[in-house]
Amino acid sequence: MSNSIPNKQAPIIVSLDSPFTDQKPGTSGLRKSSKHFAQKNYLESFVEAIFQTLPGVQGGTLVLGGDGRYGNENAINVIIAMGAAHGLKKIITTTKGILSTPAASHLIRSQKAIGGIILSASHNSGGPDGDFGVKINGPNGGPASEALTNSIYECTKSLKEYQILQGSLIPLDQTDIYSIGSMKVEVIDGVEDYISLMEKLFDFDKIASLLRDDFKIVFDAMHAVTGPYAKQLLEKVIGAPNGTVRNYVPLTDFGGGHPDPNLTYAKELADLLLNQDFYDFGAACDGDGDRNMILGKSCFVNPSDSLAVLTANSSLVPAYANGLIGVARSMPTSSAVDVVAKDLQINAYETPTGWKFFGNLLDKNLITICGEESFGTGSNHIREKDGLWAVLFWLQILAEKKCTVYDVMQQHWNKYGRHYYSRHDYEEIPINIANEIYSKLEQGLPSLSQQKFAGHLVTHADNFSYEDSVDGSITTNQGLRILLEGNNRVILRLSGTGTKGATLRIYLERYVSNTGDLNQNPQKALSPLITAINDLTKIHTLSGKNHPSVIT
Ligand code: G1P
Ligand code: ZN
Repeated sequence: MSNSIPNKQAPIIVSLDSPFTDQKPGTSGLRKSSKHFAQKNYLESFVEAIFQTLPGVQGGTLVLGGDGRYGNENAINVIIAMGAAHGLKKIITTTKGILSTPAASHLIRSQKAIGGIILSASHNSGGPDGDFGVKINGPNGGPASEALTNSIYECTKSLKEYQILQGSLIPLDQTDIYSIGSMKVEVIDGVEDYISLMEKLFDFDKIASLLRDDFKIVFDAMHAVTGPYAKQLLEKVIGAPNGTVRNYVPLTDFGGGHPDPNLTYAKELADLLLNQDFYDFGAACDGDGDRNMILGKSCFVNPSDSLAVLTANSSLVPAYANGLIGVARSMPTSSAVDVVAKDLQINAYETPTGWKFFGNLLDKNLITICGEESFGTGSNHIREKDGLWAVLFWLQILAEKKCTVYDVMQQHWNKYGRHYYSRHDYEEIPINIANEIYSKLEQGLPSLSQQKFAGHLVTHADNFSYEDSVDGSITTNQGLRILLEGNNRVILRLSGTGTKGATLRIYLERYVSNTGDLNQNPQKALSPLITAINDLTKIHTLSGKNHPSVIT
């Protein structure tokens, strides 16, 4: 039996004074400040363009939810009222509107939905002074393709009106079914399906036995979406002690924090593992639950290394015990995983930054595991990166190997050598200055070839472009690469996800074979490369910043 929502019967048409004039949404959908989203008819215009463009809206099912940030529940109600006006058959949403990105991806796939709308600005801060975002996912559960994003954007340019049903709001406080006009709204628990999926991939009993062996773990949900998932999964299902999951209540402003699991923004957790000695394992996820940071006692796992370790130890996880088909990493991610892939005799693909590029490879069954240096790892179980999946994967490895995170890393480097790696981010640079730094380096690339850079010969320098082997599409301008002899390199890239000014990212990588010094401080090991690129780009002088805003 479904409850009818009063007065939500006939759609009304709202005229727009002027069309939506933003630039094209980025790799993660439309991400702007909450204030920007508060402009009259702004959200509605974008949603109208989605409903006019997304294939299958008439009679289709849509998955809808978000990371709980300021604006989440309001946007859910707007999208429900507009979805009903556009002829959707059903919207599946969740209690309190809480739905992590990986859980949404799974739900889209399991419910055979036409796609999903995820309300999140990922790891960006939230609240009235923070950011908001609208991400669109396609029927494979992954981020919308470039073509769909372009069509939605084109549609926004000529919009004259939008359609919406008016009336009372849907209560999101408990699971229930409603009908609105001829559309159904199912409010489900957003956590359960995801946990059953994880149960199919991992051996929870084995992980539980690790925890019973006095192996102490801590998880920081950063007051974001993974709180309810991790609490249920780690404490209730696997049996970790109460209190294992910190900051587990999702807050609209993430408690004033920045839900970005790195050493800067998850400092409290990092201190627990790196400067104190109680816990054996620590992890955190970001705003919408797709990113992860892994820490051991006195040990930070670089995300590029994490991808390589998961790949190398995949046979220890039930879901991957029969072997991997292939792996993929984004271009700026270190080539640590390539070395493992070579050893496993499987293909390793190099794609542009952004999860959507893995979608085709996963759909065509060319890869099993993929990841990015930006704290994202995932597999063919869904079409998004998955923070808690990575945490469980690590716990499974530790449960099987019965050793510390530090030992896992040492064993890995002793076998494959170490890719010293770091990313230096310069945030909130005026856009014209960032463009100047970038284009000057780009113009200078041809003259670097066959010259020495930080003492290494430059073997190749270019602006990375990618031809998708599945659909033939070409993506250009993906970052300036200076490739050096001996598997070393430096990359300069402009971020596509910032909302204030421009962010320049410098990626540094130096390979040391397993006979070299494997226990240096990464910043020290990379310092000749750091000095060389800083001098070449004059980034400190031109940006007015003497230090990167974030070092990973
Ligand atoms: C950043 C990360 C990238 C990730 C994206 C979405 O993009 O670097 O790996 O896919 O967020 O989470 P960027 O700001 O670098 O364009
Ligand atoms: Zn995210």
